[in-house]
Amino acid sequence: MAELGLQENEFKNPVVHWIDARLPVFTAMHKEYRQFPTPKNFNYFWNFGALATVNLAIMIITGIFLAMNYNPSTAGAFDSVERIMRDVNWGWMIRYLHVVGASLFFVTVYVHIFRGLYYGSYKKPREMIWMLGVVLLLLLMATAFMGYVLPWGQMSFWGATVITNLFGAIPVVGHGIVTWLWGGFAVANPTLNRFFSLHYLLPFIIVGFLVLHIMALHTVGSNNPLGIDVKGPQDTLPFHPYYTVKDSVGVCVYLIVFAILVFFIPHQPLLMDPNNSIQANPLQTPSDIVPEWYFLPFYAILRSVPNKLGGVVLLFGSIFVLFFLPWLDTSPVRSCRFRPIMRWLWVLFVIDVFVLGYVGANRPVGIFILLGRIATVWYYIHMLIFLPLVGKLERPLPLPESISKSVLGGGALPSAAAARPMEKA
Ligand code: HEM
Repeated sequence: MAELGLQENEFKNPVVHWIDARLPVFTAMHKEYRQFPTPKNFNYFWNFGALATVNLAIMIITGIFLAMNYNPSTAGAFDSVERIMRDVNWGWMIRYLHVVGASLFFVTVYVHIFRGLYYGSYKKPREMIWMLGVVLLLLLMATAFMGYVLPWGQMSFWGATVITNLFGAIPVVGHGIVTWLWGGFAVANPTLNRFFSLHYLLPFIIVGFLVLHIMALHTVGSNNPLGIDVKGPQDTLPFHPYYTVKDSVGVCVYLIVFAILVFFIPHQPLLMDPNNSIQANPLQTPSDIVPEWYFLPFYAILRSVPNKLGGVVLLFGSIFVLFFLPWLDTSPVRSCRFRPIMRWLWVLFVIDVFVLGYVGANRPVGIFILLGRIATVWYYIHMLIFLPLVGKLERPLPLPESISKSVLGGGALPSAAAARPMEKA
């Protein structure tokens, strides 16, 4: 084989053997998804990356079918979506899958991020996986924002107007950027055209970044709930069948939830704002312009300062700060299971994000102004002060000797925290 310039492989099936000798995709799959040594102590939070991947596939497939019947012009967009709902075979189901899928995508990605925060998955050597994750988050947000404009309802139009106008706050070049984004002097037909084009393109860019995300993951290996390094083969299991089965259980539960939402409550206001069933009218501003739930915490941060530029800086800053998390957190221990102070600060941080979301859903009057400001300041204090400082001051609990010892009950458990000297992760 080798002397003929072909790859060696041990596949029995002659077709697989022939293909793999010329294009070793089966060898790669075998290495990355069959043998791939994976920590044996994953919990169900490690399902969420796979769930997000399944969700991405559902979004792309349903999106392609929607695009076959969608008309990306201000004159025809709204009606074409109504036609999809009423006349196109299974159109209602494809659209509901896409709409509910958008919300569930954010649920999976937010849980995935909070999981990473709790177990310290962003820490050395997984900085690159994390940073590529933040890029995925930004791409996902851009895709969702542009997708929401496409049905050309009231919220599509006014949401697009509010958000694109934010760029106008940038000194000197701001107005130029806004005109360039719009392709004119208001959100109109050229804006809708380019948003449609980009909304179709970006998911494929997301696929590209996802491949890099997984390549980076498979280079350094997965973290685990204990946050300690794999010490040898006794700490791992082959990815298949152990985690393919565990991921499949998660996917089944997930699809059941998905189906319940699609078939029974797709018009739940969190999934679909009723205002978006009214065609866009540039002459009539709705009384409240509220983004989808997944943008609400960021919307609250934007409105927490009375100055437009200040709000925009804080908004973008709240996401960009995530890029620096691996260096902001100074603790030598990854998992919050062994970080008695950070564990509680993590809980408060999650509550803080929920508070921000609640504030974002309400008008900025009365108590909501104060609450929004406190929650925004807390967000930044967590990132810029707690993570660096607590990492240095906190005294972590003793770490287990190894994953296998902990799984088999032989390692130190958090509850057994004696005053042993701290071990390094
Ligand atoms: C389109 C969105 C995303 C998809 C499809 C995705 C997919 C995945 C998959 C399949 C895994 C391996 C399984 C797992 O550990 O759950 C993973 C791991 C990881 N992802 Fe993502 N991801 C996405 C977004 C993000 C974001 C936004 C972040 C963080 C900002 C992130 C950070 C991580 C980290 C740190 C790991 C390694 C986890 C560990 O080993 O403990 N990902 N991702």
